[in-house]
Amino acid sequence: MVSGTVLVTGGTGYIGSFTALALLEAGYKVVIIDNLYNSSKEVINRIELICGKKPEYVECDITDEKALDAVFQTYSDIDSVIHFAALKAVGESGEIPLEYYRVNVYGTLCLLKAMSKHNVTNIVFSSSATVYGDATRFPNMIPIPEECPLGPTNPYGNTKFTVETMIIDHINAERTKAKKEGKDDKVFNGALLRYFNPAGSHPSGIMGEDPQGVPYNLLPLLAQVAVGKREKLLVFGDDYKSKDGTAIRDYIHILDLSRGHLVALNYLREKQPGVRAWNLGTGVGSTVFEMIKAFSTAVGRDLPYEVVGRRAGDVLNLTANADRANSELGWKTEHTLEEACADLWRWTENNPQGYRQEPPKAFVDA
Ligand code: NAD
Ligand code: WQD
Repeated sequence: MVSGTVLVTGGTGYIGSFTALALLEAGYKVVIIDNLYNSSKEVINRIELICGKKPEYVECDITDEKALDAVFQTYSDIDSVIHFAALKAVGESGEIPLEYYRVNVYGTLCLLKAMSKHNVTNIVFSSSATVYGDATRFPNMIPIPEECPLGPTNPYGNTKFTVETMIIDHINAERTKAKKEGKDDKVFNGALLRYFNPAGSHPSGIMGEDPQGVPYNLLPLLAQVAVGKREKLLVFGDDYKSKDGTAIRDYIHILDLSRGHLVALNYLREKQPGVRAWNLGTGVGSTVFEMIKAFSTAVGRDLPYEVVGRRAGDVLNLTANADRANSELGWKTEHTLEEACADLWRWTENNPQGYRQEPPKAFVDA
């Protein structure tokens, strides 16, 4: 059993909430901060319903230095941070790039400064496969290993790349300073987790992705088609060089992804590796048509779709080579795509209003 207190920024969001749950289940204490820009506080109750433990929650904007300082002061036992809070819509990042730099880059800068001030030395960062950009320009690098040259192609990706660089520079500087001062320099560590495409929900059907605006990603859009909120799915291009012409992605179950954070944090605390990047993906790619079929099977009927032109900025294939996480972290995915689709459908059916409704009665009574 582990011990320690972890600050989870963006912890009421999709991946943050599942990671908070995984941390609590493993024995960590959890403090969540979020400004609820893209999430709901109801998720705290759902976490407690599932695991019987409640994370601490503070409404806080990561760009507010004073508020951050107060969080670290109040919870002075925080020893590590898992940092999810960010804006994440690729298209929007092209329209309001400065807002993406303010929240994602300046917000992380505020967080690192506050960590430094309060002697918090471990950070796990939500990076993204998007930092690789169009990896198909290196044909021998599909599936994509961490050594693949980085080359983001949109402002959102640029912010993730910038933050990765900032964390590397910061941890290196902290280590150098500690060494000079005759202190333990090995306590400063960072994990850069490059996720591929998160998918699915909690098998209980009471926790899942609940985007506040119009969803951008394939599976939430398919879920809206299934419940009739959307007439059909628009398939962005069937002229890619794949087996059925549609683009290939690596869809990873949210339970595997969140467990990846737990094992990465444990690794930082035990092995003190400095800063290291790990891909979190299954290593198996699926096309858009395969995803429509898999989700239709979970729903039990065919879902309508129409092929339209390619979406600007999309690439043929983003599939992870996850060997490094497998061998170093001892982590590999355990849940299938079929489970991800079945879990997503259970969540969607049980919670048509997402977190803006009470948890399903059957679960509460059980
Ligand atoms: P999400 O929007 O569900 O979660 C992000 C959370 O951050 C939200 O709860 C939001 O309210 C909060 N937030 C935003 N701005 C904030 C601020 N200024 N201060 C405090 N909180 C703020 O998104 P997610 O899918 O859970 O993504 C989590 C992280 O993982 C993000 O950093 C994202 O870029 C990264 N990521 C996501 C994906 C994906 O496909 N979902 C893939 C790769 C990486
Ligand atoms: C998946 C596939 C689309 C919607 C994005 C970000 C990436 C990461 C994950 C944060 C693609 C196709 C989609 C639709 C479609 N996020 N599609 N019709 O683009 O792989 O990755 O989310 O870091 O950075 O770029 O995910 O779910 O949007 O698309 O045909 O209505 O589904 O073209 O091939 P993507 P996605």
